[in-house]
Amino acid sequence: MTAALTPVISLPPLRPFLKWAGGKGRLLTRILPHVPASFENYHEPFLGGGAMFFAVRERIGGTAHLHDLNDVLINVWQRVQEDPATLYAALEWYHERDSKDFYCEQRTAEPTTVVQQASRFIYLNQTAWNGLWRVNKFGQFNVPWGDRAFRGIDEDTLFRISDVLIGATITNMDFRDSLEKPRAGDFVYLDPPYLPISDTSKFYLYTEKRFRAPDLADLAELCHQLTERGVHWIMSNRDTPEVRDLFPGCDIVRFTTRRSVAAQNRRDVESLDSPEALIIGKSAT
Ligand SMILES: C[S@@+](CC[C@H](N)C(=O)[O-])C[C@H]1O[C@@H](n2cnc3c(N)ncnc32)[C@H](O)[C@@H]1O
Repeated sequence: MTAALTPVISLPPLRPFLKWAGGKGRLLTRILPHVPASFENYHEPFLGGGAMFFAVRERIGGTAHLHDLNDVLINVWQRVQEDPATLYAALEWYHERDSKDFYCEQRTAEPTTVVQQASRFIYLNQTAWNGLWRVNKFGQFNVPWGDRAFRGIDEDTLFRISDVLIGATITNMDFRDSLEKPRAGDFVYLDPPYLPISDTSKFYLYTEKRFRAPDLADLAELCHQLTERGVHWIMSNRDTPEVRDLFPGCDIVRFTTRRSVAAQNRRDVESLDSPEALIIGKSAT
């Protein structure tokens, strides 16, 4: 008698549930060959939509430490991790009401519970023009309507993402604090906001606080300390002489990419070709 075969059900790979300016989804094939095949803990201090986390999660032997300075974004990740059922129900509420007028109301809405704040964020992320999250200096969301229907997040996918986040540390933190933690054997992927090409080009305003040249200099110093502590790290950035000057002694892999979210609004379009640098900080140990 032949034993009955158990059917192998292959689930689709998990991908970011948010569209995020500077998201690395399309560049993963260029970056992943440089990521170690396995490591202890994983650290992502500039989490955004977390494209790299989803791609490397099976290589993590220990804990994933996921951080970002955008507190509204981090609240979304925390709700997905802790309470996907309540979040799913809240997303349905948005689904039923979706329209251009409703979008305009939601731009200025100030929900009070953490679940409502997270579902509003996902709603705006999917329906705003180009999926941009941009706030003015008072922290108010100000992106025009994107003329797209709200899809929400498929229920199974939401629960699967929640499962892979079990045990992860997810906190709203500046990179200066989160980079104290990595130890020898860990891997860190860094994807900070890129500095603007010129003084007149626009910043991506992920948070009220802009990421400027002194921030990148602080980050370079912390990367140097990571290397000294035996931590393997990789950073994505724009390939410019200024960036290269900050990372002497590191391997730098250059490639060119086309940017899809290249503008802050309909009138303001940056160059589509972007020279990318992958800065590889191998530990000395
Ligand atoms: C280029 S995006 C990261 C995109 C992400 N890798 C992805 O695939 O979606 C940069 C992120 O850095 C965050 N950020 C900006 N300044 C920061 C700081 N000082 N500390 C930590 N995160 C910061 C922004 O909120 C933004 O989410």
